[in-house]
Amino acid sequence: MRTEWAGLLQSLPRSSFAATGARVDDLLRSGEDVINLCQGNPDLPTPAHIVEALRTEVLDPVTHRYPPFSGLLELKNAISAWYARHHGVRLDPETEVAILFGAKAGLVEISQCFLNPGDVCLMPDPAFPDYWAGVILARARMHPLPLRRSNGFLPEYDCLDPAVCERAKLMFLNYPNNPTSATAPREFYEDTVRFAARHNVIVASDFAYGALGLDGQLPVSFLETEGAKEVGVEFISLSKTFNMAGWRIGAVVGHRDVIAAINLLQEHYYVSLPPFIQRAAIAALTGPQDAVRQLAKTYERRRDVLLDGLEGSAWSLDTPRSVFAWLPIPPGRGGSVAFADELLSRAHVAVAPGRWFGEHGEGYVRVSLLAPEDRLAEVARRMADLPIPATTTPHHAPQHDPHHAPQHDPHHSPNHSTKGTLS
Ligand SMILES: Cc1ncc(COP(=O)(O)O)c(C=O)c1O
Repeated sequence: MRTEWAGLLQSLPRSSFAATGARVDDLLRSGEDVINLCQGNPDLPTPAHIVEALRTEVLDPVTHRYPPFSGLLELKNAISAWYARHHGVRLDPETEVAILFGAKAGLVEISQCFLNPGDVCLMPDPAFPDYWAGVILARARMHPLPLRRSNGFLPEYDCLDPAVCERAKLMFLNYPNNPTSATAPREFYEDTVRFAARHNVIVASDFAYGALGLDGQLPVSFLETEGAKEVGVEFISLSKTFNMAGWRIGAVVGHRDVIAAINLLQEHYYVSLPPFIQRAAIAALTGPQDAVRQLAKTYERRRDVLLDGLEGSAWSLDTPRSVFAWLPIPPGRGGSVAFADELLSRAHVAVAPGRWFGEHGEGYVRVSLLAPEDRLAEVARRMADLPIPATTTPHHAPQHDPHHAPQHDPHHSPNHSTKGTLS
């Protein structure tokens, strides 16, 4: 039997998070007190009324049958009502909403739907790494949109090569941002709509953290901007909003052609999601929202514990507005992959090195706030106390890190284009 993988599959990156997870498990098995803040996996349970709804729905035999191919209309109604209530955005449930196996599935599918081999996709850098897979599967190319702290981690459209803009067909955006935790102001989305309309680019706005407004500030949805629905779509997720990451449910809303394309692709992959999950999602979206507000407060308290704990240490950071803290690595600590490695080996704290999210993530680590306050206080203590090693590489020096496999890196992918190299 010949079992060598098809070239396309071989070109997909392996998850760096899985490798760190395995190291954490090894350390835990050997009795170490490891605190794992590497992944973005919510640590708190789904609110009881949603679990109760699932219990009830799964007893109804109708939910044991195949659902309609594109999902339950009642759920699409609930999603459009949620957008109207929270963002004043009007959506036609039948044509402008598609249900997803988590936002992640749609964020991969959209590239498969619209990119042909050689097409260009504008990719924030740093970015949530899952976007890369769809671009690789479409044999398309990525062009980086650097997100710099000096510009509030927003892309600078004016700095883009006009030739690249003309070749670009799709672009990803994500605010509140993973990994930087930055949020986007309304004016940025106005610029985005103008940019996308001028260059005929489809905007894929990832709003997975959009419902968790910290400090009483509900994040702005891209779709609130006039003209947004004519140039793109937005992805939402129930994973973080309702601690439902394991339930695998999200949605994409907006431009009807994009929705139709994603629905067609999904018709061939799945017959929509289990109906009892879809019905429980209706309960989540239409039921009481106190748990969402409480969750935001919980993250605020956790963030403040981390900030207070690091105060006066070598660490400095902007106030995170999401479930991640994006920490610039203090001088003298080496590159992000080596530093995260050191933090795990010496302080038993697992964080995600910025380099995993792209070239411009170098010099940072991402710390998730997905642990109780006492554990975050302990993390801050351990990080502040970490002695500076005698010999280190400055974090801005070129990295040759053995722990960073090149296949995780979009900039080392043969599909990735850099400015001036577009053929
Ligand atoms: C920015 C971002 N988008 C999308 C997702 C995936 O969401 P879902 O669980 O709905 O697939 C995540 C999950 O961590 C994320 O961080």
